[in-house]
Amino acid sequence: MAQQIISTTDVKGYLGQIFEKEKIHKVLLVCDGAFDYLQTKDEYMALDIPYAIFNEFTPNPLYEDVVKGVKLFREEECDAVLAIGGGSSIDVAKCIKLYSSMNDTKVYLEQEYKENDVTLIAIPTTSGTGSESTRYAVIYYEGKKQSVTHDSIVPKYAILDYRNLVTLPLYQKKCTMLDALCQSIESWWSVNATEKSREYSRHALNTLMFNMKDYIANKEDGNAEMLEASNYAGKAINITQTTAAHAMSYKLTSLYGIPHGRAVFMCLPSIWKLMEARSILPDVFSDIAYMLGYTCVADAIGYLESLNEQLFENDKVTMNEGDIEILVKSVNPTRLKNNPLELTEDMIRSLYMDIIKKYQ
Ligand SMILES: [Fe+2]
Repeated sequence: MAQQIISTTDVKGYLGQIFEKEKIHKVLLVCDGAFDYLQTKDEYMALDIPYAIFNEFTPNPLYEDVVKGVKLFREEECDAVLAIGGGSSIDVAKCIKLYSSMNDTKVYLEQEYKENDVTLIAIPTTSGTGSESTRYAVIYYEGKKQSVTHDSIVPKYAILDYRNLVTLPLYQKKCTMLDALCQSIESWWSVNATEKSREYSRHALNTLMFNMKDYIANKEDGNAEMLEASNYAGKAINITQTTAAHAMSYKLTSLYGIPHGRAVFMCLPSIWKLMEARSILPDVFSDIAYMLGYTCVADAIGYLESLNEQLFENDKVTMNEGDIEILVKSVNPTRLKNNPLELTEDMIRSLYMDIIKKYQ
């Protein structure tokens, strides 16, 4: 299914066209706490068709939350899901769409996933995960992170409205931007990279670097371009998946509450340095370095480390060397398979040591 991506501030007009084209009668609006602060809220709420709202989920959504959403979708007899929010809202909406046609007497996660005709529309309100253009969703079941992956959960329509970024707190803007930055780099060096995915990565990274300053300054153009960059980074990882920096980041988030994008960005330079020392992928690494503004890979890695300092100067994170073994054991082997260098347990241990020393 080809996805339609629309960059517009006439969201109401476009939604009207989509509802008509898809013959939608009632929509389930999935949104998070930030929805109330959007300057576009009243405009979005004035939909031309009936809707029900679902917002009973946490930033790291639980399977049980999704089940509640599916129940509401059925009770309200909806035929479309509209996600307005960050990665979590979009992930919840994806699962509701996928599970809405499945057997509710069994655990959805254990059933075979099939395509259905529920229309899924996503309006991202952060520029980071690119979830509006991926076939992945993350939810937690019995305390464990579950990756839900299916082609049919790529939203059929993604609407990019830069006005949504204006009210996003600066810290969150920085963290989500770093997710997009890491996703474009990891996708570029992933073992699954294709010509197409590298084209997406290149465009994402170029756009991101060029607009970082204006985005941080909350300028209109900067926000609009960053939304495009994160969308392209999403398209890139939709092909390649992420690699070791993401795999190593998840426990930093769950253990210390470090926001996702920042946690990944803490891991990426150390991993790149290790890979660079093994002289793998010289051309790919030079291309990435060039896009970051450097002819030398070591300088590009140094730049990323200094960017971390620059962005979070007075805002340190707390980690604990005593947790090293917990961190090492947490790394998801599936994500590691996408990494261009096979990482041993010892390598992962020394990477974590390095990260803790550097950012503590
Ligand atoms: Fe990510």
